[in-house]
Amino acid sequence: MLHDSVVNLLNEQVNKEFYSAYLYLDMANFYAKEGLDGFENWFIIQAQEERDHAMLFRQYILNNGYEVKMGAIADPYVAYMNYKEPLEAALKHEQYVTASINAIYAEAQKVNDYRTIQFLEWFVKEQGEEEMNAEDNVRKFELFGEGKGLYMLDQKLLGRAYTPPSLVLD
Ligand code: FEO
Repeated sequence: MLHDSVVNLLNEQVNKEFYSAYLYLDMANFYAKEGLDGFENWFIIQAQEERDHAMLFRQYILNNGYEVKMGAIADPYVAYMNYKEPLEAALKHEQYVTASINAIYAEAQKVNDYRTIQFLEWFVKEQGEEEMNAEDNVRKFELFGEGKGLYMLDQKLLGRAYTPPSLVLD
């Protein structure tokens, strides 16, 4: 049995992860319109990963015998003014998601919910990687985001391939 306060936060996280997928698809749309196929590809795969995260939270709630509540997903559209803005917004968003995961972890600790703490360990590590990747994109753009460098960076991001999450819940 889980504590209601933890279940509520887990349900909110399902929505946040689906929103993340939606946000990153909006960024992919922006780059697609600009003809930057690599950046588009990177964000489409990022959106797939976010959907995976949402499904893991959903499954965890179900596996513990609770109801999953699907809230409305907010409109993610932003009129980006340049190629760098989505990269910076993505980094900020990952920092927000990290804080959100940490808040669930803190609540689980407060109510001695060791099962949820163990489940969240994977996400704590994952958020470290997510922030590192988002930071890397900003840094690479600052270094190579113009002229021929932009073309090469776009080609590099085109090489990102989807891998399913290492965490599996039956
Ligand atoms: Fe699901 Fe990008 O964190």
